Amino acid sequence: MAINQTMQDAFNEHINHEFFASYLYLSMSAYCESINLPGFAHWMRIQSQEEYSHAMKLYDFLLDRDGKVALLPIAQPALEFASVHDVMQQTLDHERSVTGLINGLYGKAVAEGDYASQVHLQWFITEQIEEEKIASELVEQLNLIGDRGDALLFMDRELATRTLAPDPAGTGAT
Ligand SMILES: [Fe+2]
Ligand SMILES: [Fe+2]
Repeated sequence: MAINQTMQDAFNEHINHEFFASYLYLSMSAYCESINLPGFAHWMRIQSQEEYSHAMKLYDFLLDRDGKVALLPIAQPALEFASVHDVMQQTLDHERSVTGLINGLYGKAVAEGDYASQVHLQWFITEQIEEEKIASELVEQLNLIGDRGDALLFMDRELATRTLAPDPAGTGAT
């Protein structure tokens, strides 16, 4: 069954949110590189790629449901950050707000009696648990580190090892 107008509009709006997240993390990656934390920069670049794949997962879903993909303008993300701690805290805050948006989307799918969208969104609900958990851990680790440069450099080396998760969306986005 083709997706209805209400859900189509809501998905197009959310595709834009995922692209914005990709943009935001890419901007954070550039900032981390500029303060000589290449491991954090690498981690953020992977995070940006993951958000791109989330957008594409919804893009493909809309097309599969005979929907119309409408790519909306992507807002400009912040250019400057106070510190790497600020970057990670904003990442956590952003993931929490995305969780709220996904929950809202799911609520809409329930109200519209759109079961296919509910099933598709379950993957995103699970993903957000992981996203919040990881961002929260990294904020806590930075809290523990405080002003210790040696510990921060150790963390930077750890984050440099992140690899892109196998593309869960099957979008070929990776
Ligand atoms: Fe996402
Ligand atoms: Fe995310």
